[in-house]
Amino acid sequence: MKDIAINSKIENYVVHIGKGILDDMSRFVVPNKQYVLISDSGIPSIYRDKIMSQLKRVYSLVFPQGEQHKSLSEYERIVELLVENNIDKNAVIIALGGGVTGDLAGFVASTYLRGIPYIQIPTTLLAQIDSSVGGKVAVNVGKTKNVIGSIYPPKIVLIDPNTLITLPARHMANGMAEMIKYGMIADERLFSDIRDNQVYDDIEPFISRCVEIKKRFVEADEMDADVRQALNFGHTIGHAIEAYYNFDKYLHGEAVAIGMTRILKNTAIKNELTTVLKKYGLPTEDPVDIERLLTIIEKDKKTRDGVLHYVDIPNIGTFEIKRFDHWLSNEEGD
Ligand code: NAD
Ligand code: GLY
Repeated sequence: MKDIAINSKIENYVVHIGKGILDDMSRFVVPNKQYVLISDSGIPSIYRDKIMSQLKRVYSLVFPQGEQHKSLSEYERIVELLVENNIDKNAVIIALGGGVTGDLAGFVASTYLRGIPYIQIPTTLLAQIDSSVGGKVAVNVGKTKNVIGSIYPPKIVLIDPNTLITLPARHMANGMAEMIKYGMIADERLFSDIRDNQVYDDIEPFISRCVEIKKRFVEADEMDADVRQALNFGHTIGHAIEAYYNFDKYLHGEAVAIGMTRILKNTAIKNELTTVLKKYGLPTEDPVDIERLLTIIEKDKKTRDGVLHYVDIPNIGTFEIKRFDHWLSNEEGD
């Protein structure tokens, strides 16, 4: 079991990581409190049942799985159900699932009755190493990802790597894209360990290492005005590719894998990256040309004062934030 404390300007919280942590939640829950368990239809019911059996007062709410349901209409439906069921300010939301559940349930928590507490219980690799930590919660509007949201830290994050046993291989690889991203931007040793070992054989220490990296970025720049943007390596093009294909063709991490590869101009670093992405079964290219992605990219939140930025990797384990228009004007011939 590993506990990683996250210092937040809003409210500090702890990420607890350990196999079997969900089998005994007595340390983390309060008897007689009203809980609202929010999960999507793809989460195996064993996890829902396990959690519900340890709570006295719990209302379970299941929404349809898929990125397209991280939407305002699903948000509204959930809020209506909370109102109908007289859920008050003392209740605690539990977000059980992947990044879609965490982002949507967290956004409900951040706004319902002007904010009620919530707990993150991430069950995908992507959510365990990335989306459950740092308090970013959001919904998509149309093709624009995460355009309505807030930064609203959870009360606690409970990571049980045993939940990954049921996660399909494609979704494991999806999470690996974000793990590889951490190596690229912040930790050359992590990158080489991912390259030289089979991460799935003993994943828990890798999850902890990623949460430690995320902690560093979130604590340095919780409000996402500066260095936290390095976590968006590959996301400028990645988000656009996801949206271009109506969120049907690629999972988030897969699109980020293509985005990371595409944005790099240094051939040696690009080759190192693609080797590792391929090792974990991730895509590294897509035929769509940049002009088709530009209208989507221009709506990206990474624009500030009309200037869009992207993350470059001068050496593996380091990053630089640069102007996207410079990348575009240099694209041909590189
Ligand atoms: P997801 O939440 O859609 O989960 C993937 C699928 O796996 C779903 O169908 C889900 O039902 C199923 N699932 C979840 N846990 C399972 C388990 N243990 N066993 C079997 N099936 C399981 O997708 P994701 O990849 O976890 O998250 C992607 C989302 O995360 C995107 O919306 C992205 O924008 C967001 N994100 C947010 C942040 C952040 O900081 N908030 C960071 C990165 C990504
Ligand atoms: N894009 C992930 C984060 O900033 O938390």
